[in-house]
Amino acid sequence: MSVKVKKAVIPAAGFGTRFLPFTKSVPKELIPLVDKPVIQYVVEEAVASGIEEILLVISSDKEPIIRHFNPVPELERRLEEQNKSEMLQQVQEISKLAKIHYVYQQELNGLGDAVARAQYFVGNEPFAVLLGDTVMDSFTDKPVTRQLADVFERTSSSVVALEEVPLERVSKYGIADGDEVEKDILKIRKMVEKPSPENAPSRLAFAARYIFTPEIFAALAATGRGKNNEIQLTDAMQKLLATGAMYGCKVAGKRYDIGSKSGFLKSTVEFALRRPEFREEFLAFLRETVAKFES
Ligand code: UTP
Repeated sequence: MSVKVKKAVIPAAGFGTRFLPFTKSVPKELIPLVDKPVIQYVVEEAVASGIEEILLVISSDKEPIIRHFNPVPELERRLEEQNKSEMLQQVQEISKLAKIHYVYQQELNGLGDAVARAQYFVGNEPFAVLLGDTVMDSFTDKPVTRQLADVFERTSSSVVALEEVPLERVSKYGIADGDEVEKDILKIRKMVEKPSPENAPSRLAFAARYIFTPEIFAALAATGRGKNNEIQLTDAMQKLLATGAMYGCKVAGKRYDIGSKSGFLKSTVEFALRRPEFREEFLAFLRETVAKFES
């Protein structure tokens, strides 16, 4: 019988230097797309994928994230008094989304180190990792993490989400190479963290979602500091690959990286246009603005 993926880890402790000066005092994971913080989209994706328990990796500067997921009785009372039942329901639902735990990453030693903080929570189970600053919008009714969990449940091996990126952008991501064993599923042969376009083995970039077997923790423990003097998750994945199979899944979905300023700007436009209450007005505004800048 296949083992189900029931736990998820969401790293959200990073400094967010790409989004300074805003991130000097506000966690980038709380940046909104229209009116909902990025990290809420991420938690909702995990829950819709069948995840039952979530660990958020934070630092003391990121405590506002805890407040976002905790109930706020005063606010709820006020909304109730004012008969704002729709808002009340929205607010109450956030704190009921999932069983969320928190762990502090004491020193921000990189994504690999953040994932390593989850060992106690994870125990001996497979688990998902969802980057807390990236929304993955699915093209189907299956959320991206669910797409990966389906592959895990068939292969019992670690699986990483892949998205094809233009050659000039490969140097921003971990890049995988492998053999397509079935449609959109690769058995990974090698991977390189942020390669130059000349050294990239493919254009298939890691896309902010992973499923790992608990063996990743031994690999992380054996991983020293790599690029940027940080413990890189990709380096540990390389080690894991040496001891067992790993798959890449070209996911049916799109990455919205809110940790970058241009990613945030583009995502905001797209998510605003999807909302019926803003669509017409916003579209007219965009057309006007584009015409102004092109003239
Ligand atoms: P990034 O790769 O975007 O790194 O992290 P960063 O340090 O947060 O941001 P920049 O590159 O300086 O702008 C991807 C995810 O991993 C978390 C981040 O919070 C983000 O959600 N992370 C990163 C940690 O939890 N700990 C770390 O040490 C680094």
